Amino acid sequence: MPKEEAYQNFLKRIEYYRSRYDQLTNEPNYIVIDSLNNKVIREKEEGIPYYHLIRDILVSDWIHNLYLVRHGQTYFNLENRIGGDSELTKRGMQQAKDLAKHFKDSDIHYVFTSTKKRTLAIAEEIKKEIPNIEIFPFEEFDEINTGDHDSITYDELRLNFPDLYENRLKDKYNFTYPNGESYRTLKKRVEFGLKKALFLSGGEGNIIIIGHRGVNRIILSLFEFRNVEDVPYIYIPQDKYFQITATQYKKLIEMKKFSEYD
Ligand code: F6P
Repeated sequence: MPKEEAYQNFLKRIEYYRSRYDQLTNEPNYIVIDSLNNKVIREKEEGIPYYHLIRDILVSDWIHNLYLVRHGQTYFNLENRIGGDSELTKRGMQQAKDLAKHFKDSDIHYVFTSTKKRTLAIAEEIKKEIPNIEIFPFEEFDEINTGDHDSITYDELRLNFPDLYENRLKDKYNFTYPNGESYRTLKKRVEFGLKKALFLSGGEGNIIIIGHRGVNRIILSLFEFRNVEDVPYIYIPQDKYFQITATQYKKLIEMKKFSEYD
């Protein structure tokens, strides 16, 4: 559709929605849920039959199995470089194959990745074992943006930018890479990505997220309620994944090994 036609079509659609929608403000019954934390924030209910049962179903049964995986070894990992869009090494590919074999007979329909080669390569391996699986690359799951310092090594950061390096050590959670991100700002977009992934998978239950060290630290911290100063130091291995269950009745995080190559 040409751009102008698409725009007019979009405006018409908004008009149509306006004509059809009732405002929610005067609703006699409503429930506002924080689905990430399994909490009811506000509710108003005037005699709906079985309301409490319905509410329990809405709030619980939210995450059955969220498999949180970090990509395998990359060339940048070998050289201790940050950021970039490096490929997996031979070892990284082996880890990807081991992971795919591990999930071979699992009932998983969705895998969410970042837009980086190192996470997509793993999703592709999983697809070889589970052909019906759908892959969704999300920018929200891209690794912390290291801005002007993208692709340099930790040693170069320490030697060439000592003040910056020191500041980072003092408060890693709030430290912002020049023209990049901090863990604090990363949290916002990762949380958004997670909500999007859970919404898209529509309560399917079992999903895989293939992320990065920083990103996975944030996701884990959302379930573990960690102190912010601990978040940038959470251990995120490349030979193990985290299996997260978060329903109203059960909250469980297990770390499981899938490869001999760490
Ligand atoms: O694996 C390397 C990496 O993902 C970098 O791209 C990123 O900057 C870093 O890990 C995040 O970990 P830390 O904040 O501990 O440097």
